[in-house]
Amino acid sequence: MKPNIFVTRPLPGDHLERLARIADVNVHEGGDPSPAELERGIAEADGAITMLVNPMGRGMLSKGKKLKIVANYAVGYDNIDVAAATELGIWVANTPDVLTEATADMAWALLLAVSRRIAEGDRLVREGKFDGWKPDLLLGRQVYGKTLGIVGMGRIGQAAARRAAGFGMRVLYSGRRPLDPVLANELRAEYAELERLLRESDYVSLHAPFSEANRHLIGAEQLRMMKPDAILINTARGALVDERALADALKRRTIAGAGLDVFEREPLVEPLLLQCDNAVLAPHTGSATRETRGEMAGLCVDAVIAALQGEIPRTALNP
Ligand code: DGY
Repeated sequence: MKPNIFVTRPLPGDHLERLARIADVNVHEGGDPSPAELERGIAEADGAITMLVNPMGRGMLSKGKKLKIVANYAVGYDNIDVAAATELGIWVANTPDVLTEATADMAWALLLAVSRRIAEGDRLVREGKFDGWKPDLLLGRQVYGKTLGIVGMGRIGQAAARRAAGFGMRVLYSGRRPLDPVLANELRAEYAELERLLRESDYVSLHAPFSEANRHLIGAEQLRMMKPDAILINTARGALVDERALADALKRRTIAGAGLDVFEREPLVEPLLLQCDNAVLAPHTGSATRETRGEMAGLCVDAVIAALQGEIPRTALNP
């Protein structure tokens, strides 16, 4: 009998066909599975490909009596209890590297969109309110030569830093530890404690993974440290930021703007943020390029096949 693989959403590209040659692939259609549907799928599965919205805590993982692997279709894996999976003998894999450039691009797209008020301009034109060139129409902020503060200098943070060179920017970064000096030098990035980074940066871009330890890493106190003309960008995880405190800072203009691709309670967006015209909001599409989403599927399928064949998946988080 072929192994059973539960996939919680249809995936872009044709990688699942590769999997279907060696396994019965059960793709959940019609949106995210409910907790009961997820539990049923996991209970019958030898392997699963999950999305970042599928909560895979200890209880859910332990329903998988013959489950060998959970391959998460994301680089972030805060939806999975990796320690519990390890205890239960289940591999957990993610999709590193392939979404680095796409996500860094998204951070920059938001940074430029907020600085140059692109979304406001789009609304103005569509509403028929563009009545000709004016010296002071939608004045934005110069990006060139400013200071970019990167919080979390992993692969995506580094890719964001590389892009800053083209804009003649000074780069500060904070993280668990300073980078190797050769790499820091190549990125022209200087290590700073979070407080200094917040006080000195014109742009603060978040690239840290989420864990309970850094919930609301950016709260009211940290927002108060930022410059009044600073812009906050978040393409990492929504819960890194206290959204109500952010909405308050945006409303009172104690910071100048924000570009957000992620939200604390997705798909809900804090209603106060929706009222802020100095925020550009995107629906968690940081990695959403055809190329990247296809490669993410490829990595998940590779990981499942490896686990079914008794090998260590290349992208395993708990080898
Ligand atoms: C991730 O991979 O963690 C992103 O949030 C979605 O691609």
